[in-house]
Amino acid sequence: MTKEHGLIKGDSVGQSALAPDMRWTSELKRTRQAGPSQIHKDWSAAGFSTAAVHAGTTDDPISGAVGTPIYQTSTFLLDDEQYRSVEEGYARDRFIYTRYGNPNQWALQTKLAALEGAESALVFSSGMAAITATVMAMMDKGAHIVASNELYGGTYNLFNQELPTLNMSVSYVDPRDYEAIEAAIQPNTQILYFEALTNPLLKLVDIKRLSQIAKRNKIRLIIDGTFLTPISCRIVEMGADLVIHSASKYLNGHSDLIAGAVMGSRKLVDMVWPRLLAYGGSLDPHACFLFERGLKTLAIRMAAHENSALQLAQYLEQHPTVKRVFYPLLESHPDNSLAVSVLKNGGGMISFEIMGGDKAALKLLKCLNIPKQATSLGGVESLVSLPFNTSHAGYTSKQRQDMGINPGCIRLSVGIEDAADLINDFEQALNSI
Ligand SMILES: Cc1ncc(COP(=O)(O)O)c(C=O)c1O
Repeated sequence: MTKEHGLIKGDSVGQSALAPDMRWTSELKRTRQAGPSQIHKDWSAAGFSTAAVHAGTTDDPISGAVGTPIYQTSTFLLDDEQYRSVEEGYARDRFIYTRYGNPNQWALQTKLAALEGAESALVFSSGMAAITATVMAMMDKGAHIVASNELYGGTYNLFNQELPTLNMSVSYVDPRDYEAIEAAIQPNTQILYFEALTNPLLKLVDIKRLSQIAKRNKIRLIIDGTFLTPISCRIVEMGADLVIHSASKYLNGHSDLIAGAVMGSRKLVDMVWPRLLAYGGSLDPHACFLFERGLKTLAIRMAAHENSALQLAQYLEQHPTVKRVFYPLLESHPDNSLAVSVLKNGGGMISFEIMGGDKAALKLLKCLNIPKQATSLGGVESLVSLPFNTSHAGYTSKQRQDMGINPGCIRLSVGIEDAADLINDFEQALNSI
């Protein structure tokens, strides 16, 4: 199989002897049903809140208890059907062993797929487990990635330290320089890897444009959508092949568990599943229960996050101590016109820069009563941190400034507290530094 650029794993590997129309395509020709075999109603035409509450959630058929019971088991009874599923290669569609699949994982996966408008989803024990399994599933030995130069640190460490051991390489580019992105593609490039909204300056990438580049070059587009959720934009529908989430953030939304997810076509998610089995990053049934409960309120939580974040961003923007504010729905944001056209919800992340540099920023954090000083994001409580001593501590101050992260930069994950209370708290804290 020859191509000008790129080698799409799964389209050619091990199948070169097949006639062209018999290679993998995005439409599975296999007769088995797509997705786990639990019987679920189709909520794809429903609104976000309806799908978030009902999709995938299964009442207990024995007791009639409302909601998915916790199937706290490591293993399942084997019968002819289970043996057949192993033999014929559809073990992902039957319950065999909880690392392979569990009703609590399936409930979540069905809900996530419905929210994203995707065919399939997989949940993981962390966002990093989801990223590792997905990237490794889409890459062959010796392959190359074109990735954002502003990645989450854990992803950067995976790319920088682990991938080279498999002779894989990465070119890092400005996530909004589309010409540079296309120019960085090499004959062995298999993936474009970007984050929907960068950390901490919230640069919004144009997913449709990235998708066109990926399609033109016959490579796959993987987007980390952690800072945005399907309530803001459905990244797979916008053209990404796979969207990955650290569900430890908005999807679960209560800062009480670590989880990850990937959503996309059944074919690609099927390709990720063996890596989930191999690396072992499966999500425990009890954690699934908590995650499912959190996900049910995603739509109303996101509306509350956006409402408080927008009001707080507008307040901060006019404060004399504040130099700059980054929030996608502010007119002053460099990507505001893209944000207004593609985002149905601006999310709850704000970053801003104050006079007096990091010393003043540290003092401000100590004066705040409502936001807690902690890393992470997306929970119902506001969290505040400084990139210079947390997420970007591994960079020199020169490197940080090259990325646009200046002294005095503060990252704020706005919770669902009342906007007036948050504004009053920032008012007193800004006035006391
Ligand atoms: C954008 C992004 N992606 C991935 C991750 C990793 O997720 P987890 O901590 O759930 O492994 C994080 C964690 O902060 C993140 O911010």
